[in-house]
Amino acid sequence: MKKITVIVVVCLLFIAGALYMRMSGNPSQSVPDQSASDMIVVGFSQVGAESDWRMANTKSMRETFTEARGYKLLFRDAQQKQSNQIEAIREFISQKVNYIILAPVMEEGWDPVLKEAKDAGIPFVIVDRMIKTSDESLYTSWVGSDFRKEGGTAMTWMEKNFASDKDLVIVHLQGSRGSSAQIGRTEGLQAGVSKNLGWKIVVRDSGDFTQVKGKEVMARILKQYDKIDVLYCENDNMAFGAMEAMDEVGRTYGVKGEVTIISFDATHKGLEETLAGKINYNVECNPLHGPRVEQIIQLMENGNTPSKFAYVDEKAFDAASITKEDIDARSY
Ligand code: AHR
Repeated sequence: MKKITVIVVVCLLFIAGALYMRMSGNPSQSVPDQSASDMIVVGFSQVGAESDWRMANTKSMRETFTEARGYKLLFRDAQQKQSNQIEAIREFISQKVNYIILAPVMEEGWDPVLKEAKDAGIPFVIVDRMIKTSDESLYTSWVGSDFRKEGGTAMTWMEKNFASDKDLVIVHLQGSRGSSAQIGRTEGLQAGVSKNLGWKIVVRDSGDFTQVKGKEVMARILKQYDKIDVLYCENDNMAFGAMEAMDEVGRTYGVKGEVTIISFDATHKGLEETLAGKINYNVECNPLHGPRVEQIIQLMENGNTPSKFAYVDEKAFDAASITKEDIDARSY
């Protein structure tokens, strides 16, 4: 009888021990966290936080790649430096993420790190700006804006509003040099100027897509040029900065002023300034790429091949015809 009692106690202790291990986890043999291991791990190297457009883009990506939706997002802000982006990509590779997403600061210089990702078998998605590569197989897909077309849209508007032979003094505020957004919009302007013989770009400088630098550069330009007909500004934030600089020295701009302003992005604030008649023409650049990138990733998850390139549809807003509804419809 005593022997039977001992056997029963030992069995009960064994069962209780097994149950305890199952519920609390064995420290020497960690039980994988099922929910975490099911998640798709995405490393995203973002350009920075230089503009309202960029903040809206980051928000769109963060809202898409959430844990509740099955993703673990590793987000790295490169502070507008390519070297930081390369470092982040290498970190993603060593962490063996499932996908790498890159919003590239500039077009050139990605091949070595793209090759490292390819060798590690990690699919690479490019978003927003484009890259230049000697081997297109190094990345899976790209989705973003047609920046050259955006510049062309601005030129069509200028041609409608200024005669080709009119002497036009143009100031050109460029974005970050070497980025597709700068290259495309600059090419658009260049093409317009070479067709319309009276138009002259008297000065061209970079404000790096930021409001602070836009203001700084414009303040310098205003000291050198008494007459400016058109400010071609490669994003809204630089336009806001340039407007501040003009306000400070009493130069007028917009529909009722001396300087016609053409801007890009058409952010919420940019459209408010357009409705107020301070920006004459604003060409849209859509930052809501989160769902678009997710669609690419989901295609791959399901064993399909996404298209190599996907351009986003964009429009433009004229101070003469923009409505309050246009602004209300804008989420960024
Ligand atoms: O690449 C998109 C551009 O980058 C936007 O026009 C600008 O605002 C941003 O910083």
